[in-house]
Amino acid sequence: MTRAERKRQHINHALSTGQKRETGLDDITFVHVSLPDLALEQVDISTKIGELSSSSPIFINAMTGGGGQLTYEINKSLARAARQAGIPLAVGSQMSALKDPSERVSYEIVRKENPNGLIFANLGSEATADHAKEAVDMIGADALQIHLNVIQEIVMPEGDRSFSGALNRIEQICSQVSVPVIVKEVGFGMSKESAGKLYEAGAAAVDIGGYGGTNFSKIENLRRQRQITFFDSWGISTAASLAEIRSSFPASTMIASGGLQDALDVAKAIALGASCTGMAGHFLKALTDSGEEGLLEEIQLILEELKMIMTVLGARTISDLQKAPLVIKGETHHWLTERGIDTSSYSVRLKPKTL
Ligand code: FNR
Repeated sequence: MTRAERKRQHINHALSTGQKRETGLDDITFVHVSLPDLALEQVDISTKIGELSSSSPIFINAMTGGGGQLTYEINKSLARAARQAGIPLAVGSQMSALKDPSERVSYEIVRKENPNGLIFANLGSEATADHAKEAVDMIGADALQIHLNVIQEIVMPEGDRSFSGALNRIEQICSQVSVPVIVKEVGFGMSKESAGKLYEAGAAAVDIGGYGGTNFSKIENLRRQRQITFFDSWGISTAASLAEIRSSFPASTMIASGGLQDALDVAKAIALGASCTGMAGHFLKALTDSGEEGLLEEIQLILEELKMIMTVLGARTISDLQKAPLVIKGETHHWLTERGIDTSSYSVRLKPKTL
C-alpha cells in the first residue's frame, strides 16, 4: 500500500471510529461564580503559545496532506475556514512530500489559501533537522510540530518498530530550526516524565494529545488482519495529562488536545493549564458532514460559547481562565492522587479574603 493510500484510509477510519468521550474532562467541574462582575464584550480570548501570539485559543490540529487530490481538498477547506475564523492550523505529516515532491501541493495549498495566518508544519520524530527545515520552508510555517506516535506505529501493520534516538533528533531540530518547536502526542497522552525530557530538549511547548478522542490504535487495528485490541484502551487521558504536567512544570507552555469537542471541553482544558487547544477529529467530522461553511460556523460558535463560559466564570482573559477553580472527581482524581498530585491545588486557587 502506498503512503497516499494509507493517508486516505486514516481519514475514513478516523471518521468511522469517531470520538469517545473518554478524555477525563467529564471528571472536571468548574466552581460556579454568582458574582462574575464581567460583561461578555469585555472577554478577550487572545492567547500566547510560547512566543507566538494568537487571537484564538483554539486551532485545527494536524491531520492531512500527502494523499493526492482528497487531502489537497481537505487542506484547502481547512485553510479557508481557519483564515475566516482567524484561528491557527496545523498540516499533517509532511514526510510524504519530502519523499515525493508531487505531494507538496497538498500542503502548499494551505499557505496559498491562508497567506497571513498562523500555520504549523508537521513531521514525525524520525525526521532530521534538515527534514525539519525543509518542512517549515515548504509552507512558510510559524511553528513546527513533531509528533510522537509510538502506539500508532506499533499497531500499524507496516509501521516503525524502532523508536531509538527520537529525543536526540528532537533536540537537534529544536536547536537548528528558526521557528518554535511543539512536540505533540496523537491521542495517547503524555506523562510529566516525557514532558520534562521534551522541555529540556528545547521544545517551546508540548501538546499533550490526550487519550479519549480519535484513537489511532483502533484506526490501525482496522487495517490489520489480527487485531491488537489491548492498545485500544492504552494511554493517559487528556485531563490527567494536563494536570500532571502542569503540576510539575507550572511555567512551561502546554497545549491541550485529544477528544475536545465543544467550548466546555476547551474551557476545562485551559483551566487545567493549557494556553491553547487543538481539535482534529471533531473538525474533520464537521467538514465532512457540513462542508466548509459548516466547519466555519462550528468554529465560530465554539469561540462564542467559550466567551460565554468565561463571562460566567468572571475570567476576562485566558490567563484568568487558567486560574479558575475547579473540582476533580472520579478516575481523573484517582489517577492524579496515585501520581502524587494534590488536586486541591486546582480546587482552592483563590487567596482567601478577610471579611
Ligand atoms: C491525525 N493526527 C495527526 N497528527 C500528526 O501530528 N500528524 C499527522 O499526520 C496526523 N494525521 C492525522 C490524520 C487524521 C485523519 C486525524 C483525525 C488525526 C492526530 C491529531 O493531530 C490529534 O493529535 C489526534 O487526532 C487527537 O485529537 P482529536 O482528533 O481527538 O481532536
